This record gives sequence, C-alpha cells and structure tokens, in this order.
Amino acid sequence: PPRASLRLEDDSPRLNGASLAAAAAATRVNAWTEWGTLREVVVGDAHNAHFPPRSPALRPAINREGGQCFLEPDGSVVEAEGIGALLERSVGWPAGRKAQRTIDAANQQLDNLAAVLRRRGIAVRRPSGGVDWSAPIKTPFFDAPNQYCATCPRDIVATIGNVVLEASMSRRDRYFEVYQYRDMIREIWRADPAMLWKAAPKPSCADRMYNSEWWDLRTEERYAQMRNYSFCITNEEPIFDAADIMRCGKDIFVQLSMTANAAGIEWLARELAPSGVRVHTLRFPYDLAPSHLDCTFVPLRPGLVLTNPERPIAEEDAATFAAAGWRFLDAPQPTNPSRPWASQSSKWLSMNVLSLSPRVVVAEEQEVALHRLLEAEGFEVVKVPFRAVYEFGGSLHCATWDLARDDCCEDFFP
Ligand code: NVA
Repeated sequence: PPRASLRLEDDSPRLNGASLAAAAAATRVNAWTEWGTLREVVVGDAHNAHFPPRSPALRPAINREGGQCFLEPDGSVVEAEGIGALLERSVGWPAGRKAQRTIDAANQQLDNLAAVLRRRGIAVRRPSGGVDWSAPIKTPFFDAPNQYCATCPRDIVATIGNVVLEASMSRRDRYFEVYQYRDMIREIWRADPAMLWKAAPKPSCADRMYNSEWWDLRTEERYAQMRNYSFCITNEEPIFDAADIMRCGKDIFVQLSMTANAAGIEWLARELAPSGVRVHTLRFPYDLAPSHLDCTFVPLRPGLVLTNPERPIAEEDAATFAAAGWRFLDAPQPTNPSRPWASQSSKWLSMNVLSLSPRVVVAEEQEVALHRLLEAEGFEVVKVPFRAVYEFGGSLHCATWDLARDDCCEDFFP
C-alpha cells in the first residue's frame, strides 16, 4: 500500500523535518536508521519451520532448562516448563520439522504483531513463500539435509536508504532463505523506480570457509583468543548476515562476529562508500560467540543506544559514539531469562526491540524491567507477547525487516 501520509509526528530536535519529508517522498523504499517513524515493514512467519541442522557455522544444542510454547485448541499460548533436560536425555538435538503446535504458537504471536502494527497505520507485508524448508540443499560445495524457516527476515536482508541488500549469509541451511522474499522484493522493485536491488556475493560455504576447531575450544581457550576476534568463519570469503548491521543515518555499524567477518565488513564499506555511507566495525570482546547485533547494541534514537551490560563494546569502538555525545543505556537483566529448549539465542532476546519511531518501541510483554527503563527515558512502550517466537531465531527486531521509515542520510556523528 502506498504511504499516503508522511506526517512527521516524531520531530526529535536532531531530525530535520523538511529533509525527512523530501527523502521519504522521493523514494518508497527508504530506511536509513533503526528509529525513523516506521511506515512499512515485513513481519516473518514460522510456517513449516524446521530444526536447523548441525553445520560448520552452527552446533545447535538443547537448552536443558528450557520449556516450550504450544498453541492450545482454545487459541491460548501455553508455556510448558523445564522439558529441555528430558528431551536432551531422550532424543538429543532433533532433525526435521518442528511440532505443529509450536509453529502455530509462534505464528499466532507473529500475526498479532502484524495486527498491532497495522492498527498503528503501518503497512505490513508477510513472506511471499516458495521455499520448502524440508528440501535438502546440494551445491558443488556443500550439502545440507534441510533448511530452516522465514521467521527472521532481519538476518537475511537489509534496507539501507533506497537499497534492498541481500546478505551473503554464513549458514548453509539459510543459503536460499532469501527466496522466500523474492516475489515480494521483485514486486516492490517494479513499483518503486528509485529502489536499488543488490545482493552480496554468495560465499561457497565449502568446508574451507569455516574454522571447525573453533567449536571445540574450551572457554579458557576462547578467552585466550578473544582479542583476535577469531570465530567459526574464516576471513577467506566476504561473509555477513544482515542482522549484524545497525543503521544510524550516514553511519552503518557492523559487528565482527561468527556471522560477519572482516572481509564482509570491507565489502559493505566499499559498496556503500559511493553513496557517502561510512561503515564502522564494532567489537564486543567479552562475547565469546557473537552473532547478530540486536541482542547487544540497539540504537533507539539519535544519541542513545540500548547496550548489553554483559557485552561491553571495545573501547576503541566506543570512542566514535563518545565523540559525538551519544549515551549508552544498559538494558536491565531480563525479567524472564528462560528460553525455550530449542532456542539458540541468549536470554538477551529481552532487549531485541523494534522501534516504531524515536519515541515508540515495541518490547516483549513480560520484560517489565525493560519497559520501566524505556518509559523513564520518555518512550511509549508497546507490549506484545512474543516468547513463542524465541525458538525460531529471535524476537521483535529479528522477526521484522523495515522497508520504509521517515528518515534520511543524516550525519549523527559529525
Ligand atoms: N546471538 C545473539 C542474538 C540473537 C538474536 C544472542 O543470542 O544474544
């Protein structure tokens, strides 16, 4: 649907209303920041989701303390507690399709998010389909027994200004995930003559692209290697997942991680330089398995980042923010730190929020401590249930991909 109205209801003092309106009117696809007023967004879905297979980029493990969310026949989502240890003893890491009641619970909460956003006047698209997640992959370089799901578009595609950029991806089972959005991307591209459609070079995902010993390192050995930022992917081929990117206008921040290597960040820097965008590497030296930035470092509005108290940023990377007068706001410990037994994410999904504007943030409904913190900072917090989505790869930021925000290529780091 077209963006009929471009009212600038969030006139933060650092935003220039005239330039915002001009930028938004000129292109349909437009998102330069994590916080500009949201106009159009994609919300993922959990249909036919499969368990991610073990691969050189992921060694999935059962969370022993975890429970599981189910959709009951009466339409309610219940959370069975503490079944992880039992499953670990009886089946180990499973293969194949996830349980239908678990898929239904996730889809109910994803559908609810879509409805909440639509009620606020935001256009919402859902994945257009086409990929059978049960299908194995065979390329000249690797095999994968099955694929995953389309719950987390944030991981695989990013909007940077008027560019829709398909990430290279680090995991074999996610190699073709973007095809779940290809009909949608093509349709938007046809409708918006200003949109640029780009894809990063697909890596081989061959064995040589991975450092398989990394998974077997003991924690002390990982600490010893910490300063090398050496993870399970090597630096031979440019690699990045889109969720390692955070946009702050003219400046893009990318986490060096087990899903984005230095070559991938270099590729982004060269690709974006002609449009005047500066790409910065972010490092979090105490995160021994970093992957995706949105449980670690979440810009909320000009001058403010929600940070993870257990993952402090490297001093040299913090300097960029300090010099421009930005403030880091540590997220509180999660109110509900438990994760479903099949979740491969951390308890910090609690801080994986979606900004609707510089003043409005969507957060998981149980994360009361975070709500209080954000409300004290002047945000309106929209609370939605989302724990049933956690085992499908993420929370509210992961499960969305913004196509249009009211913002522009503004310099927040002059
Ligand atoms: N891998 C990160 C981000 C997940 C969305 C974490 O688990 O904290």
